[in-house]
Amino acid sequence: MNTEKYEFIFRRLATILAVSILTLSLGAAFTGILLAFYYEPSAGGAYESLKNIATEVPNGSLIRDVHDIAGNGVIVVSLIEIVVMFLGRKFTKSWLTGWISVIFFTLNAIALAWTAMILDWSQLGYWRLSIELQTIEAIPFIGSQLRDILTGGGGITTATVEHLYTIHSYILSVSAIAIAITHLGALLVQERQQTRLQMELKAISSTSEPDLTQAEIDSNSLTFTNKN
Ligand code: HEM
Repeated sequence: MNTEKYEFIFRRLATILAVSILTLSLGAAFTGILLAFYYEPSAGGAYESLKNIATEVPNGSLIRDVHDIAGNGVIVVSLIEIVVMFLGRKFTKSWLTGWISVIFFTLNAIALAWTAMILDWSQLGYWRLSIELQTIEAIPFIGSQLRDILTGGGGITTATVEHLYTIHSYILSVSAIAIAITHLGALLVQERQQTRLQMELKAISSTSEPDLTQAEIDSNSLTFTNKN
C-alpha cells in the first residue's frame, strides 16, 4: 500500500514539475522575444541596450528579471525532475521518454544559460567566456573549430555576441520548448496508462480474485505495462 502511495506521489510530482518546466520555458521565450525588440547584439551595444531596457523601456527591468528568473529557475526545476523521476522509475516506454527528454532538457537549459554569458557584455561575462574558450580550444581535434564557430573567429567581438545570441535565441530556445512539450506529453501518457492499470487491477481484485497478493498484483502490473 505504501509503495503504491509513494509511486503515486512521485508520478504526480513529476507531472507537476513537467508543467512547471514548460511554463518557465514559455515564460523565458516570451520575455526573451520582448527583450529582443530593444536588444542590440554587438560589443558594447549589448550593454548599453540592456541598460536602456532597464531604465527607459516601460517594465523593462521587470521583463529582464522575469527572463533571468525563468531561465535560471528552469535549470533548478529540471534537475529536481531528474531526481523525482529516478525515484519513481517505472521502466515503461512513456517513463523512459520522459526520463531521456528531461536529461536533454537540462543540458539544453544549461547551454542556454552558458550562451547568455556574454549577452550582457559585462566584465564578468567577458572574462568568464575568455577562460572557458581556452578550455574549449583544448578539446582534441575539434577544439579550435568549435571555438571559431562560437566566437566567429579570433577574439571576443561583436561577431561572438551575434553568434551566441543566434544560438541562444533561435536554436536552443526552440529546442527547449520542443523538448519540454515532449517531456510533458510522455508524463501525461504515463498518467493515463497508470490510471487505466489501477482500474484494471481494482476490477480484477474485486471480482475474480479477491485474495490477490501484492506480488501477484505487481506481476500483473508488469504484464500490463509491457503490453503498453
Ligand atoms: C526557453 C527559452 C529561453 C531560456 C530558458 C533562456 C535563458 C536565459 C538565461 C538563463 C539568461 C541569462 C540571464 C542571467 O543570468 O543574466 C538569458 C539571457 C538573455 N536571453 Fe534568454 N532564454 C530563452 C529564450 C530567449 C529568447 C527567445 C531570446 C531572444 C529572442 C532571448 C534573449 C536573451 C537576452 C537578450 C539575454 C541577456 C539579457 C540579460 O542579460 O539580462 N532568450 N536567457
